[in-house]
Amino acid sequence: MTCRSASYKQPSVHAEWRSRTRRGAASIADVETPSVLIDVDVLNANITRMSRHARDVGVQLRPHIKTHKATDIAAMQRAAGVSGFTVATVQEAEMMVGAGFADLLVAYPPVGDWRVSRLAKIMEVAKLTFLIDSVPAATSAARLARELGTVIPFLWEVDCGAERSGTPPGIDSVDMAAEAQREEGLRLAGFLTFPGHAYASQSRHDLDLAVSDEMEAASVTAEAARAAGLGALMLSGGTTPTAWLATRDTPLTEIRPGNYVFHDATQVALGVCALGDCALRVLTTVVSRPNRKRIVVDAGAKALGREVMNRRTVGYGVVADRPELAVTGLYEEHGLIEAPEDVHDVPIGSRLELVPNHSCVTANLHDAHILRRGDEIIDVISIGARRGTARDASYGRKERL
Ligand SMILES: Cc1ncc(COP(=O)(O)O)c(C=O)c1O
Repeated sequence: MTCRSASYKQPSVHAEWRSRTRRGAASIADVETPSVLIDVDVLNANITRMSRHARDVGVQLRPHIKTHKATDIAAMQRAAGVSGFTVATVQEAEMMVGAGFADLLVAYPPVGDWRVSRLAKIMEVAKLTFLIDSVPAATSAARLARELGTVIPFLWEVDCGAERSGTPPGIDSVDMAAEAQREEGLRLAGFLTFPGHAYASQSRHDLDLAVSDEMEAASVTAEAARAAGLGALMLSGGTTPTAWLATRDTPLTEIRPGNYVFHDATQVALGVCALGDCALRVLTTVVSRPNRKRIVVDAGAKALGREVMNRRTVGYGVVADRPELAVTGLYEEHGLIEAPEDVHDVPIGSRLELVPNHSCVTANLHDAHILRRGDEIIDVISIGARRGTARDASYGRKERL
């Protein structure tokens, strides 16, 4: 017997929204939950402000697109003024190059045959700069350069305190970078720092220390490079909080913030923006009120993300216009708001907008984002390089580049 449900066609919700938006027939009140909403005016203001800030400080801006993974937003960044873009994944690089963005820093070690062969394909049509922080990564990049008959520029990663990847500042990094440059096919373009430890800051003082850690690492490395006769090199640095705090005396020549397009509750806790500067929200419906203090919403870990990057944030995100209400518990599809006091005006069926702790991770949990101005839907954009989708594997894609 054939099951009747086998002929049921799963609705394409976002295609439906796109077409209703074009007809002017969609408003936020009709949107299904949980969904990601992006305030287009806040997004534009964040993008414009960072481009202006980079110009004021006198550094190049090479934004990291891992935050939005969307070419529509990259186009807005380009219009505001950038010198190029940064990507982490091969898929991000493929998406950007496919949309005509042809100058990318791949800020991820070129390790793994699959990764290198996909990068090779991209290099037929685009200029890539690599990040290298080890001999095997240098060997792998040099082999690729020789195969392609080209020279690959690279930035050597210096660990400025994040303790993620990279080698110690100063002569250690310079020696290794110079060694890598001796590989035929590689050209040292400069050094890269990532002050990820800024995110753990518990005070403005801690954040200032992370900024000076990065400045110090960049300066001593540049000094050692000059002493070794390596010439004028690029110094690429920055996360969103440290980029916002960069001043004209920074030794950096380039900043690579990513998160600034959306911001989030972590940036608010760090004091680099206000809640009103957070462009990304998760629209959610109240589905249960077991008692006067507890509000259960349909945005769980799979819609909001389970990120805690800084101890000064409360829970996993907050209600946008009532930050005293935080999502303090998460199941896969349930978010729990345990209010400090009785809440009488949030009934079952009402809708809330949540500002997540880490918008980069939240953005990646959704296939599409709704661009809004107030209650109006302006557009629905695709997250072209979203992780974990079929596109994330190379199958059938290589040939199209
Ligand atoms: C190498 C590199 N550069 C820049 C960034 C941008 O950082 P943020 O999103 O904090 O602005 C990241 C973030 O992970 C990164 O890994």
